[in-house]
Amino acid sequence: MIATHIYYLKAMGIDSWVRRDLITQETPITEPVHIPPPPQPVVTTPIIEPVRIPIPQPPLPVVETPIIEPVHIPQPPQPVVITPSWESLQHQVVTCTACELHKTRIQTVLGVGNQNADLMVIGEAPGADEDVQGEPFVGRSGKLLNAMLYAIDLKRESIYIANVLKCRPPGNRNPQLPELVCCQTFLDIQIQLIKPKLIVAVGGIAAHHLLATNTGIGKLRGQLLAYKNIPLIATYHPSFLLRRPSEKRHAWLDLQLIRHTLNEIS
Ligand code: URA
Repeated sequence: MIATHIYYLKAMGIDSWVRRDLITQETPITEPVHIPPPPQPVVTTPIIEPVRIPIPQPPLPVVETPIIEPVHIPQPPQPVVITPSWESLQHQVVTCTACELHKTRIQTVLGVGNQNADLMVIGEAPGADEDVQGEPFVGRSGKLLNAMLYAIDLKRESIYIANVLKCRPPGNRNPQLPELVCCQTFLDIQIQLIKPKLIVAVGGIAAHHLLATNTGIGKLRGQLLAYKNIPLIATYHPSFLLRRPSEKRHAWLDLQLIRHTLNEIS
């Protein structure tokens, strides 16, 4: 009820109202009613912070620092460099330890004969007798070789005799490829020094090595071939002829070809 009065009074511009019968001298005049305005909402300007939108970054690649191991480049075996002289060749052969054969040899067997010969006979490797005496073809097969040469008017001393290997393989086993490779330089220098007009390879091992072929000696023999442009004739090894004397007739044909070739080129 009071609120309705206040409402109408306010509408009429009357701020305070007191009932007349209640006004006395003592009665303090009521202070105008102060109607507080409704609280205004506080409008504060928001401080707009810059919005930081995280830009997705691509993940950085993990770069692992490689542990650099020292690179080991295997070096090919160095070729034996020898000044082509008989002294240095002899020294290199005597002191050679390039393959396993140096461990079992008694001594090296370089070669024997005329260092200016037209004919160079090349066999396989020293055997037991050659290992002891230090000279090629001194055993049984050497005696047969001498006789074969004699049959075509050649003396042992007039020609040069060597082997593809300069050391004896233990038990007279066949030479192995690394051994042949190690000795190759020695043989080539020997050939360089002698400058033969004809090479005779005796036996399959020597023929296969010099001609770089596996063709059987039975097919290689009896014809004029070549090693580094030097005429070459292959024939049976004397030790084979000792076991198979029936093959001597083929060896005799080879000897005649050797004689004929020497006559032609000398
Ligand atoms: N056989 C070879 O081939 N050479 C020799 O010196 C002795 C036997």
